[in-house]
Amino acid sequence: MQPPNLSPLFQPLALAGTELPNRVMTSAMTLQYGEGGFISDRHLAIYEERARGGVGLMMSEQLTASPLSPSPFANEILAYDERQVERFAALARVLEPYPARFFAQLFCGGVSGSSSAGLEGWGPVRGPSRIPEPGGEQPLPLSAGEIAQIAADFGRSAAHVKAGGLDGVEIHGAHGWLVGQFLSPFYNRREDEYGGSVANRCRFATEVGAAIRAAVGPEFPLGLALTYDEMIGADGITEEDTLAQLEVLLAAELFDFFDLSIGAPHSVHFTIAPMAVEEGFSLGFAARARELVAGRAAVFVAGRVVNPRMAAAAVRDGAADVVAMSRAQLADPHLVRKAREGRLTEIRRCVGANVCVGRAKNGEPVACVLTPATGRELDGWAHGEPPRVAPSAARRVLVAGAGPAGLRAAAVAAARGHEVSVCERRERAGGHLADLAWLPTREGWGRAVEDLLAELARAGAALRFATAVDRELVERERPDVVLLATGAGWEESGACPALPGGIAFGAGAEVLGLDAALELARLDPGRLGRSVVIADDTGTYAPLGLAEALAAAGAEVSYLTARNEIGAEPDFHLELPHLLPRLRALGVELAAATVVRAVAGAEVEIGDLWGGGGRTVEDVDTVVLALGREPRDELAAALAGAAPEVRTIGDARSPRPTVAVIEEAERIALAI
Ligand SMILES: Cc1cc2nc3c(=O)[nH]c(=O)nc-3n(C[C@H](O)[C@H](O)[C@H](O)COP(=O)(O)O)c2cc1C
Repeated sequence: MQPPNLSPLFQPLALAGTELPNRVMTSAMTLQYGEGGFISDRHLAIYEERARGGVGLMMSEQLTASPLSPSPFANEILAYDERQVERFAALARVLEPYPARFFAQLFCGGVSGSSSAGLEGWGPVRGPSRIPEPGGEQPLPLSAGEIAQIAADFGRSAAHVKAGGLDGVEIHGAHGWLVGQFLSPFYNRREDEYGGSVANRCRFATEVGAAIRAAVGPEFPLGLALTYDEMIGADGITEEDTLAQLEVLLAAELFDFFDLSIGAPHSVHFTIAPMAVEEGFSLGFAARARELVAGRAAVFVAGRVVNPRMAAAAVRDGAADVVAMSRAQLADPHLVRKAREGRLTEIRRCVGANVCVGRAKNGEPVACVLTPATGRELDGWAHGEPPRVAPSAARRVLVAGAGPAGLRAAAVAAARGHEVSVCERRERAGGHLADLAWLPTREGWGRAVEDLLAELARAGAALRFATAVDRELVERERPDVVLLATGAGWEESGACPALPGGIAFGAGAEVLGLDAALELARLDPGRLGRSVVIADDTGTYAPLGLAEALAAAGAEVSYLTARNEIGAEPDFHLELPHLLPRLRALGVELAAATVVRAVAGAEVEIGDLWGGGGRTVEDVDTVVLALGREPRDELAAALAGAAPEVRTIGDARSPRPTVAVIEEAERIALAI
């Protein structure tokens, strides 16, 4: 039964001759599933799954509207290509049985991109002015004729969307792409009628809107996505500027909705806010914008809303007409249906790990760290529990280790009807995720562990703590299958991939692997001493997170990474712009391309990875090594022949990123 306080979410919304069945949407997400410029069958399958899961509105990923200003993404999808109509139509056919509506988001890349990627189509990147994005190439300003051509191309692309039978169009004017660059006083320094005043900066957006309106007619939803704050102060779009833009844009009487979110190239770490950012941080602004817009257009909002109760409250309180829960539906595409059925505790929650967006930025097909079925619907992976593919015969399955691989394998196997028991040698579940969860801003991993445990309990699997699996236990319990998910520990030998020969240890060196250090620091942050050196060769979050926790507890911390950059993984997940200022404020020393060469007593010899200078740090209490992981796989040999089937899975098989071990665990459990 639907909880009464969720009822605002389930009111339909009339929008320009169309009706959204409810107030939850997935905003645009570039999935990198495109094939040759076209929407792929993989797209169709993921969108259908979401429709089945009850979402009210789906926005396509950003589709390129003009060849004059392409997307910087690999696998871009070309809305301006007439042959796309067929793919839009295929999508419309797939979605026909469902009440969900589907709008296409049209965009142009503008200053983002490269003059010389690939081997074809070289030429300067194009934008309103000569202002590049951070780290980007200087663009060549568009001429008035080219601007008019791009607006016409938006119209042509929108006509394709309508001809294909989709339900509406959104112009992507947010996040610092071309339309947003024209809106931004930072990127738009033009001195013609497209630059300067708010009205002039809005001119391109309204010309694009007018071209689309002319192509699709009045009874077809048309909206504009806007960045409500570029977060670069008065040089960029501010809240005040957005409210002024909204007045101009409303006066044009072209737009049925405005889709608000935060950020631009300088602040993408708020656009797709990671775990460190408070849930629902964008709702306050949306409420202020809606006060201005209400009655004239609808307001959509996106920004780390993962809880249906929060979304319902936002609709009830008038903060927005429609609330995006976008990554939340990568984690659980059945979120809306579960909320409607009052099964809130069964929703697998997005924790903001941002593996999805890291992959999208890298041109890799989007996947969810917690939900391997996302994106694999076409390959037969099913969402939801049950239904699962039933096994031919129920078997007794013993899982050693309650880390992410063990818990997920056990839950899936039990949901399929096997009799499953998990043994964990420690007093707590979650493996390396639990080791991270106590670090500052990492509570999300604790929620992921809670959800893994809840799924295990719902599936009816047993869990025993403080129980190490050994041959005697296996012979006593006689399982048909043993899954060894005992994880990996951190190397303490000093072997370091970047430093052939490894670290030289002299007498009295106080050295800990990262896992041991995390465990000791969790119980007593002072336990590692006053001065700590962390040597990293992984680029992952954990050693930096430990540095933060120790420094916050008063230690002097030096973080040295053999990598050429600090925090490659947190950068990939958009955490680094949040983490670095915190580390700097705590006085953590940060050095890239730097290795520990030797440790003797309290002396640590540090060197530049590429040769040159070195120095000795004195009075170091502890050196923490995050150099590499060793699988804990000894049980495999000890259990040989003790059960009909013994398999090593997850990090115990080979240490990998969490996204890969959860996928493997689920795939193996589906095949038992
Ligand atoms: C993998 C990924 C790709 C995205 N691609 C787009 C895009 O193509 N266009 C867009 O406007 N926003 C894009 N976004 C931003 C989302 O639409 C949304 O604003 C953001 O994820 C915050 O909403 P959420 O917290 O509900 O996920 C993307 C986000 C993710 C995670």
